[in-house]
Amino acid sequence: MIESLSAMEIVSGLPCHVACVMDGNGRWAAQRSLPRTAGHEAAEAAVVDVIEAARSAGIKWLSLYAFSTENWRRPTAEVDILMRLVRRAIRKHAPALHARGVRCRFLGMSDPRIPPSLVQDITDLMTLTSDNRRMTLTVAFDHGGRRDIVEAARSLIHAAVPAEQVTEATFARHLPYSDTPDVDLVIRTSGEQRISNFMLWQVAYAEWVFPQVLWPDFRATHLWECLEAYRSRQRRFGGLRRPAATTGEESR
Ligand code: IPE
Ligand code: IPE
Ligand code: MG
Repeated sequence: MIESLSAMEIVSGLPCHVACVMDGNGRWAAQRSLPRTAGHEAAEAAVVDVIEAARSAGIKWLSLYAFSTENWRRPTAEVDILMRLVRRAIRKHAPALHARGVRCRFLGMSDPRIPPSLVQDITDLMTLTSDNRRMTLTVAFDHGGRRDIVEAARSLIHAAVPAEQVTEATFARHLPYSDTPDVDLVIRTSGEQRISNFMLWQVAYAEWVFPQVLWPDFRATHLWECLEAYRSRQRRFGGLRRPAATTGEESR
């Protein structure tokens, strides 16, 4: 039944901001007796499919967790290949992303170990797509939710904001990409059920789904299932009544 839902039919109760923890690449490869990097390579098709599916469904904000601050702990060879794959994917897909009205942003990106050539390609992609508004794609890359919170605290101190003026709203304005609305739905593939330091501030009241599918196998139909699950949830935000659905345009 869910497979038969087309993007056009998903019109009501759509989350404004969907975020994916793209997990399970290594296990996908292991199941096929392939090196872990083959799983990262296969992940590209899922990323492309999900971006287009989300865009065509009318989701305004999509965030993808691609590399965490903790992922630097992985073997250098794996990290190097991940960096190369991201660069290759950017070069390959930048024109199509731009043509489809996707604004691309990268959240994190402060570690000097990121190759300068990759930083350049990311900067070029962000510049190219900066005026697009059909959907904002945020790639969390060298991202850590705690680091963002610490950086926001530093920024408040640098701006000499008086302590009594530090509210949740002012704090949020000092987070990177502070125009990003809170996350409504987090999808973590592969069955793992943890946050892994992902957009900690923004997921405060997100709904979570944990499909078993490994990320390289994730496709539009899985996204429709997750959206359907989201639609069936009753969000209460600590209150008793269901608040009005988000429209996809508002920011905090
Ligand atoms: C997610 O897949 C990709 C990154 C974290 C970069 P994993 O590489 O974590 O795959 P598993 O969890 O080992 O299967
Ligand atoms: C989270 O996955 C990070 C990304 C998907 C990029 P990990 O596989 O690195 O997380 P843990 O180690 O299982 O928590
Ligand atoms: Mg993992």
